[in-house]
Amino acid sequence: MKDRYLTIALGKGRLAKSAMKAFDLIGLPCDEMKNDTRKLIFTNDEKKVRFFLAKGPDVPTYVEYGAADIGIVGEDTILEENRNIYEVLDLGFGKCNMCIAGPKSSAELLKHREMIRVATKYPRIARDYFYNKKHQTVEIIKLNGSIELAPIVGLSEVICDIVETGTTLRENGLEVLETVCPLSARMVVNQVSMRMEDERITKIIRDMEQAVKSLA
Ligand code: PRP
Repeated sequence: MKDRYLTIALGKGRLAKSAMKAFDLIGLPCDEMKNDTRKLIFTNDEKKVRFFLAKGPDVPTYVEYGAADIGIVGEDTILEENRNIYEVLDLGFGKCNMCIAGPKSSAELLKHREMIRVATKYPRIARDYFYNKKHQTVEIIKLNGSIELAPIVGLSEVICDIVETGTTLRENGLEVLETVCPLSARMVVNQVSMRMEDERITKIIRDMEQAVKSLA
């Protein structure tokens, strides 16, 4: 099995940069990826590893089906996608919180468990929070981005979204009303790959564990 390429899926965007830095540190660099290119897959022939960039929510899908052996993705996406994959390592970067946010005036609506509308990219997480944890009936509206717009234009009273620096909320006159859970980037592994490529994957997990400590 030594000659088989291990395939690693990285979620596009903020996490990919930190992930590449960590892979660099453990001796699995992929210099090709650092160039500005439209190429989708990048190979390190010496180490028999290939990387590809995918939309965050698609990473657990690639990993579940074995199209990628390993994935680097936010815990928010793992919770939302609920795929059959192993979550093997907290990478410590990409730290943020899943929050319920909105205008200050919505705090009262939350407090009194009013029937409100919640706009979110994360309907599963929002449903779990309101229905199972808070026992509050709400209407969940799925959006695909720029979630902060929803309460501003009157689509919803609150949003359920990730807050990292808080800048987007601040610049739009919104605030955190409740915190759902803290989040960070995770390494995930395909269940069959974990058995078939145990040695190589376990080494990557161990090395990554050390690398992210030095990045912290
Ligand atoms: C995410 C999230 C918030 C923002 C939070 O959006 O949905 O809008 O980042 O970050 P901040 O607290 O540092 O301002 P993203 O940039 O991923 O784009 P999106 O709006 O298309 O979801």
